[in-house]
Amino acid sequence: MRTQVAIVGAGPSGLILGQLLYKAGIDAIVLEAQTPDYVLGRIRAGVLEQVAVDLLNEAGVGARMHAEGLQHKGFDILVGDVRHHIDLHGLTGGKQVMVYGQTELTKDLMEARATAGLTTVYEAKEVSLHDFDGMRPRVSYLKDGVRFEIECDFIAGCDGFHGVCRASVPKNAIVNFERVYNFGWLGLLSDTPPVSEELIYAKHERGFALCSMRSHTRSRYYLQCALTEKVEDWSDARFWEELRRRLDPQAAAALVTGPSLEKSIAPLRSFVAEPMRFGRLFLAGDAAHIVPPTGAKGLNLAASDVRYLSRALIEFYGGSSRGIDTYSERCLRRIWKAERFSWWMTMLLHRFPDTNTFDQRVLEAELDYVLHSVAGRTTLAENYVGLSFED
Ligand code: APR
Ligand code: PHB
Repeated sequence: MRTQVAIVGAGPSGLILGQLLYKAGIDAIVLEAQTPDYVLGRIRAGVLEQVAVDLLNEAGVGARMHAEGLQHKGFDILVGDVRHHIDLHGLTGGKQVMVYGQTELTKDLMEARATAGLTTVYEAKEVSLHDFDGMRPRVSYLKDGVRFEIECDFIAGCDGFHGVCRASVPKNAIVNFERVYNFGWLGLLSDTPPVSEELIYAKHERGFALCSMRSHTRSRYYLQCALTEKVEDWSDARFWEELRRRLDPQAAAALVTGPSLEKSIAPLRSFVAEPMRFGRLFLAGDAAHIVPPTGAKGLNLAASDVRYLSRALIEFYGGSSRGIDTYSERCLRRIWKAERFSWWMTMLLHRFPDTNTFDQRVLEAELDYVLHSVAGRTTLAENYVGLSFED
């Protein structure tokens, strides 16, 4: 088999890239280790920056998102019992974000691929990368017990944090930067109306909480929890009771509870691998970086990487290698700003029981400053709606 770009991973990075390349007339094959149902079963992020929305329109997959997604012009930060409104729209000259679940987006991308008759190999096992330091890279995999090999011009490593692509790079060619947090988020999805029209990020002495949503009838809630917690120990009733304790009286009274559709615990991590290009292998999305979810940047960074990568590959086939030569630096400049923002929001809103009391007071003062200063709120809003691209 031969293709121009072999894409490893059919998460948002791989599927958006596939769609952008297809639109540009560049041939690609996507290899995915799991089944489509497994990929769709993972409940992930739900907030898209305007630039990500624009990219999905460009990729031709924006129709259902526009019909069913929710435009949000702001969100609330709850500290103790006081809610502070962050007017994203007013503070950024009219920008907003789109609330649309990663699951729905993935479904749209899968359907677009199927409609266009593009090749996605699901349950591709033992994927391995060869010769990406030369001009003729190859990717091999096992499907139904038979080994296949793809010859290609480029490999796009879109296979997430635990994928094979980053792991295939020689240790001395890559540097990892990492910060782990000693707590996680316990998430619950339910078919109940959201507690509020906009998201509420709550800083509380019992720990952070987030009220998010997928639609007018489906809610997504999170609670900061210890890493030692087990999801089995959290009955729905216990979750709702703990959430209510972390909300203000008005939100607690308005909270509609119901059976969970999904519950899971995710640890928080900040991670960046540098560089993101190794000869003819490019890393994109979670394969190259992880952010804690507080700033809602994971999916947006995946979109921004593949935006740069698709343009770089289009430029390459048009006769210029400038885009692929600058891919890593350009991505990393935007990534580090999102890493900074996600780390900062995490620090401001979570409970850090092991931090010394001086540092805790400084963080409280910083949050107080941000919420009561137009400059502070503008910084928050500008980063939340998404920084612009270098073109
Ligand atoms: N071979 C083939 N596919 C693989 C392999 C492998 N060895 N390892 C992992 N994969 C697949 C995974 O099964 C998954 O479907 O790669 C895909 C990677 O998808 P994601 O983890 O969703 O990563 P990405 O597409 O970069 O999207 C990032 O997803 O994790 C969220 O919060 C994150 O919203 C962000 C977005
Ligand atoms: C979500 O809806 O899953 C979500 C929203 C905002 C965040 C993180 C997660 O900051």
